[in-house]
Amino acid sequence: MTEDNLKAAFAGESQAHMRYLIFAKRAETEGFPNITRSFRAISHAEQVHATNHLDVLGMIRGSVDNLQMAIDGETYEVNEMYPAFNAVAQLQEEKGAMNTTNWALQAEKIHAGMYQKAKQAVESKKDIQLGSVTFALCAVTRLKVKRQTDVLYAAHLKTSLESSEKQKAQSG
Ligand code: FE2
Ligand code: FE2
Repeated sequence: MTEDNLKAAFAGESQAHMRYLIFAKRAETEGFPNITRSFRAISHAEQVHATNHLDVLGMIRGSVDNLQMAIDGETYEVNEMYPAFNAVAQLQEEKGAMNTTNWALQAEKIHAGMYQKAKQAVESKKDIQLGSVTFALCAVTRLKVKRQTDVLYAAHLKTSLESSEKQKAQSG
């Protein structure tokens, strides 16, 4: 009972955290800087609540375990969740849902692959080389690409991971 309650509370706090960050962005574009700050501040409080619940649930572990949990989650989204959601959206001709589930699906594939590489690195007691990730993120932000940002960011990140691996192979 308590475990289920904490899992439900974690889900609720996580959603509140994300929702407030998104609302902050909207308040910012509507020209309300203090509403923006309030949303952002409270979103951080919700993150603390979520973290505490997850901690008590024993679900914050070492990075190898955490990365495996991340791989499992992304793989489930890629292989089961988004294909099913996308199929339902297609059947019901929900264009917006078809797009968002497909964009997320494409990004999750890349996330799963990145986490796999990260886990292999941590298992050999190394960090991963990220190369020009910061640049890639900034480039995407500057472009102000809507909706597809996540896919593009993941694609940039993948490219920069691969190019940093190539550079390492060439130099090493
Ligand atoms: Fe909260
Ligand atoms: Fe993901």
